[in-house]
Amino acid sequence: MTLNSQTGTRDVDRLIRGLVAEIGADSVVDAAQDLSRYFRDWTGDYVGTALAVIRPATVDAVCKAVRYCAQEGVPIIPQGGNTGLVGGAIDKTGRCVILSLERLNQIRSIDPINLSAIVDAGCVLQTLKAAVAEQNCHFAVSLGAEGSAHIGGIIATNAGGTNVVKFGMTRANIMGLEVVLPDGRLWSNLLELRKDNRGPDLGQIFVGSEGIYGIITGACLKLSPALKTVETAYVGCSSFKDAMQLLNMLRAQCHEFLSGFEIISNKCLPFARLAYPDLRMPVDQSIAVHVLIELSCVAQLPLRDNLEAFLAEALEGEMIEDAVIAQNQAQAGSFWKIREGLVEGYAINGYHVRSDVSVKLSVIPNLIEQLEAMLHQDFPHWTPQTYGHAGDGNVHFIAVPPKGIDTQKTYETGRDIEAAIFRIVDDLEGSFSAEHGIGRTKRDRFCKTSDPVRVALLTAIKQTIDPAGLLNPDCLIRYEEQTCPKASVVLAETLRDI
Ligand code: FAD
Ligand code: LAC
Ligand code: ZN
Repeated sequence: MTLNSQTGTRDVDRLIRGLVAEIGADSVVDAAQDLSRYFRDWTGDYVGTALAVIRPATVDAVCKAVRYCAQEGVPIIPQGGNTGLVGGAIDKTGRCVILSLERLNQIRSIDPINLSAIVDAGCVLQTLKAAVAEQNCHFAVSLGAEGSAHIGGIIATNAGGTNVVKFGMTRANIMGLEVVLPDGRLWSNLLELRKDNRGPDLGQIFVGSEGIYGIITGACLKLSPALKTVETAYVGCSSFKDAMQLLNMLRAQCHEFLSGFEIISNKCLPFARLAYPDLRMPVDQSIAVHVLIELSCVAQLPLRDNLEAFLAEALEGEMIEDAVIAQNQAQAGSFWKIREGLVEGYAINGYHVRSDVSVKLSVIPNLIEQLEAMLHQDFPHWTPQTYGHAGDGNVHFIAVPPKGIDTQKTYETGRDIEAAIFRIVDDLEGSFSAEHGIGRTKRDRFCKTSDPVRVALLTAIKQTIDPAGLLNPDCLIRYEEQTCPKASVVLAETLRDI
């Protein structure tokens, strides 16, 4: 894959020379190199190009590059580990510079007494988790992509993952941020203070903003003491309704210890095996719904006894069909491998409709019933796949197309299925994006269906921070300097109309 030189080879050459002069040749990726990893996301669904790819290794270099691009009027797309699932870090227009944070990847400090860490944005999540574990600390954001996703990426998308039920989304695990603004100025708030109430928390504007307001270069993260007790159970239930009742009962007995509650329809299991062919199922594969339960705490407590007693009671009350408690870390890892294999299996299998929706906990069984019935009745050749972070009310409903039908037709049907999913979620007063964000894939729907005040506020902030619209253009919202009426006017009119 090559750089986009349609703008004019001389212009691109000049841009690259300018960037080299500002941040050094080693920070500008040579066009002769293989650039495919910057132009293609993890799924391969999004493939784009760029005028240049830069990899600054210091915060100062990020400031210089951003200032230079602002002077030249060249847009920038911040890029982390490229594991995002909504096309936020990939641009097809080829009119942008990709700014990869991959070389800004140091852990600046870990303070086990303050329970905080300051890290560069390009630090890989798994690397950070391993480093804090060495100091008997724990960073709580956990997701299947943690071997590639960056700290900056998880903050920019406010990622969820498998431990939200106890520790909250990424937002809840941040103390402060360091951000390069679209004009190259640096705003830093890395004071490691657990309490700082000097007005609104400005950092929150950048959490979940998907790189449209600023480039996160560093973060102060909240840690907890290392978890000394972690118990994992793999459970079989005969329905999603039973699984959600199990969650209710579990909360009543173990709420403060519950750190994971994941559901998997048994129809999903062949896809986990696509990724990991040797997977062994802890309970009979014919049981309709598989549930992963994790209890954890920092103390050395007999949580296994609690879990055993709880599951025995559930078995006796016919709430569950079978259950296995992991006897050691390796066995727990093999349970989680089944869950992690799903996303990878779908990617290996090829095109599919992916969704990431949420409803109130009590509505989950109804949501799943409606989604599966819709696919069965209206798209009978597609295979429903239901799994997700049920403890957070978050379901990933996937539709896998039949093999061997015309690709164009598959995509068109895929769009119809997505629209049908969204209709059901809207009717149930849920969210069509529970954790993956908006990116470019869901932007138009987000702008069309959101409360107009919400979109007007987001646009007003964009106009204030990035009036020329140079950071991650067309991601999350559509914003163009020339065509956008003054956002404050739009906001005032929107508010007047209500
Ligand atoms: P990228 O994909 O590189 O970028 C994502 C967005 O953030 C883009 O808009 C980009 O412009 C912006 N961005 C990146 N870095 C910065 C920065 N430093 N400053 C400003 N903007 C920036 N997500 C979940 O929520 N929960 C899950 O359980 C989950 N599981 C996953 C499992 C797999 C196998 C995969 C592939 C993905 C999964 N994801 C999940 C999605 C993904 O991992 C997250 O969205 C992740 O947070 C993105 O991080 P990244 O570094 O790869 O960001
Ligand atoms: C998961 C990702 C796709 O939960 O969010 O597997
Ligand atoms: Zn998820």
